Amino acid sequence: MSVWAVLVAAGRGERLGEDRPKAFVRLGDLPLLAEPLRRLDECPWVDSVVVVAPPEWEEPAILLAEEIGASKVSACVTGGETRTDSVRAGVDDVPDEAAVILVHDAARPLLPDDVVERLVAALGEGYDGAVPALPVADTIKRVDSDVIRETVPRDGLVTVQTPQAFVAPVLRAALARDGLRATDCATLVEAAGGRIKVVAGDERLLKVTTKADLERVAAWL
Ligand code: C5P
Repeated sequence: MSVWAVLVAAGRGERLGEDRPKAFVRLGDLPLLAEPLRRLDECPWVDSVVVVAPPEWEEPAILLAEEIGASKVSACVTGGETRTDSVRAGVDDVPDEAAVILVHDAARPLLPDDVVERLVAALGEGYDGAVPALPVADTIKRVDSDVIRETVPRDGLVTVQTPQAFVAPVLRAALARDGLRATDCATLVEAAGGRIKVVAGDERLLKVTTKADLERVAAWL
């Protein structure tokens, strides 16, 4: 079962307030992108990687892959306006023989191998897809501006991370449907009727959005 990873790194990351895309902000001695790229490259469950870079950052991404010796990288393609456009660009570069496509956000640099193992195992059980999730710890309220409208029961609620794994033709078909707005790939596959398993996520898969997130991730390196 060949597993291809699509690493989406084409976001602008404006909330970090830096002069470069989020994937190229420093994390330790290297651009942030180096960490998820190295982890995917070293992951025993992943065969090949397609990197999706912001326009005009394709070459720095390829050079970085070479610098860290990420030999599983097959291509670096240009991302799109939205995350879904970027995923589509990456998946278009995955060959037809791929059985599983794993989509991962470069903004979640600390990828543990055992999460990938759980996702791939779920597909072996016959699911169309699998996502890592964490239980919700806080009380959840629906608000209208700054006024509480209701308290949402927490039972059965989880927060979902990446990487997300899919049977390749299922993800391709979901991406081919037009007009859906989604912040993750599971939303697209759900809308197409796919069955998706939830597996245990990991706190370290924190998504870097702010400077404080970047500092937390740096402390966990
Ligand atoms: O913007 P957000 O943090 O939700 O992005 C999640 C991931 O999707 C990031 O790794 C980002 O680089 C990627 N992305 C992308 N193309 C976009 C927007 C986001 O590859 N147009």
